[in-house]
Order: sequence, then C-alpha cells, then structure tokens
Amino acid sequence: EWTTGSIVEEQVAAIRAQVGDAQAICGLSGGVDSAVAAALVQKAIGDQLTCVFVDHGLMREGEADQVERDFVAATGAKLHVADEKKRFLLALAGVTDPEEKRKIIGREFIRAFEEAERNILEEAQAEGASVEFLVQGTLYPDVVESGGGEGAANIKSHHNVGGLPEDLEFQLVEPLRALFKDEVRAVGAELGLPPEIVQRHPFPGPGLGIRIIGEVTERNLEVLRAADAIAREELTTSGLDAEVWQMPVVLLADVRSVGVQGDGRTYGHPIVLRPVSSEDAMTADWSRLPYDLLATISNRITNEVEEVNRVTLDVTSKPPGTIEWE
Ligand code: XMP
Repeated sequence: EWTTGSIVEEQVAAIRAQVGDAQAICGLSGGVDSAVAAALVQKAIGDQLTCVFVDHGLMREGEADQVERDFVAATGAKLHVADEKKRFLLALAGVTDPEEKRKIIGREFIRAFEEAERNILEEAQAEGASVEFLVQGTLYPDVVESGGGEGAANIKSHHNVGGLPEDLEFQLVEPLRALFKDEVRAVGAELGLPPEIVQRHPFPGPGLGIRIIGEVTERNLEVLRAADAIAREELTTSGLDAEVWQMPVVLLADVRSVGVQGDGRTYGHPIVLRPVSSEDAMTADWSRLPYDLLATISNRITNEVEEVNRVTLDVTSKPPGTIEWE
C-alpha cells in the first residue's frame, strides 16, 4: 500500500543508493515540483545537495522570498542564489513580441544557470568533491507526455524555462517520476514545505515577463506585481483558491485608459483578471468568481495601485483564447 510516508521513505533510500557520496545540484524555480524534488533529495543526502535559484526578477511578490527564506527554513537546504534581475531587464529592453520574450528569457536563464553551475562545480573541485548528479522535478505526466523511457530527460525544455543544457554532463535524479501532482503536493507537505509553496497555482517559467503586454520594464513589473498581489490575496481570503486552476493578472502596458482617481483625471493602464478553471491547461473555462470578490479586487487595485485605473475580466474559454495573454 502506498502512503505518502512510504513514498518518502522509498525515494530517500533510492536517492541515497543512486547518489552515494557524490554531490548533486538542483535548480529551484519557485514551483511545486522543483521544491519537492529538492526537499526529498535534501532529506536523502543533506549537504551533498546544492540548490540553485536564478532570480530573473520576473517572479510575483514574495516568491523569491519563499524560495530564499521559507524553503531554506523548511528544509535546511544549501542554496546558491544568482541575482540576475538586471541581466534579464537588460536583455528584454525594447522587446514586446511574446515569442521573442520567451526566447530571450529561456536563453538567459540557461546561461545564468550554467554560470551558477560552473561556480558550484569549481567550489566542489577545490574541496576534492565531484558534482555528478542533477535533480529534476519530472512528474509522471511529463514522462508520459514525452513518450516515456529514460530519454525523458529533456521533456520540460519545450515549455519550461530552465530546460536542460544541451551538453548534459550529469546523471539525472528524478524522485517524482512515478507521481502525479496531488501526490507531489502531499509529499511536499509531509516534508514540511509551507502551503504557499505546496499549493501554488501553475505559473509560467517566463513569469511576469509574458503578463506585461508591452515592454518589460522595472516600473511595469512593479505595477503588475502590486496588482497581482492584491488579486491573489483576495482570492485566497475568499477561500476560492482551490476552485481556480490559475488566475493570471495581466498588465496592458501598451494600452492607456482614462479614469478619475482622487482629485482628477488620470491616464493610466488597464489590468485584466484571467481566472480559469481547468483540468490540465489544455482546455479551460473562465471562472465564475463571485461579483463581490471581483468588486473587492477591482476597488483595491484601483485604489492602491496608482497607475491602474481600470480592472477588466477576461470571459473567454480556451479555445479560442489561451490561458496567458502572450
Ligand atoms: P496557454 O497560455 O498556452 O497556457 O493556454 C497553458 C499553460 O501553460 C502555462 N504557460 C507556460 N509555462 N512557459 C511555461 O513554463 C511558458 O512559456 C508558458 N506559457 C504558458 C500557462 O501558465 C498555463 O498554465
């Protein structure tokens, strides 16, 4: 019989057997899968694991802290943080095309991750150790999607930032390969990860970069981050997190709208709420959130985020609309 506890025990034993006394690296994205995979491996091999977090500055409010502070507090993992916010802003300057943004973010991410990796390898070498393993949060549906088998290593690269580098020198450790998402969440909770990490809604690898319609600037990121934090806080307060698959909040930075706020006329930006219900993100319907909740979100955002004077609701199913706006 499979219980969460027995899954943990079994995986810890398997990881120890696989890794021995070598070292391993794990990239943390802020998402559930990488966090749970890292926590399992940490439990198995402790300080032989180094986690790497490339902070691209495109995370939502509080998410970098969740990795740098809460994840570390919960697991005791050794974390290497690469603060690459400037690098991504620079690379994205002047870019508005969605696919172009994705390409740039994906490319810079791999470069930044490889640089961090190189540093860790050098440090390990100086201490006479060798880093031989790379931890991946591959789930069972990812394995199936990619056709299964051991070659499943590169599956995520097509839709996730942080796909494996081409010149793979590591052996993979994939402790979640037999699990579905709900089991991964249960394992994460069993390992003591906080609910904000374990229950997190899906969030795209390119992050807020593809939720700003227009140029990704520091200012636009701040505005979107503030609006998004309010929308998420109110959704959570309403107790409806579980009813919603995810709720992108999108800043129409290229559009301006007229409003009256405070003492006068403003010429600001609209934001779009895109709450959807879905089983697998392949198809989706817009969530019928209560009007009172929508009103609260709208009032708070237009009161608290100066640059936003209009809150709109996306009532499009997928298809024809995608979940994200870019
Ligand atoms: P769409 O917008 O295609 O999104 O309906 C389907 C699901 O995929 C997520 N998404 C992405 N995830 N990198 C990712 O890691 C991406 O470039 C990307 N684009 C969309 C989206 O959030 C939704 O869950």
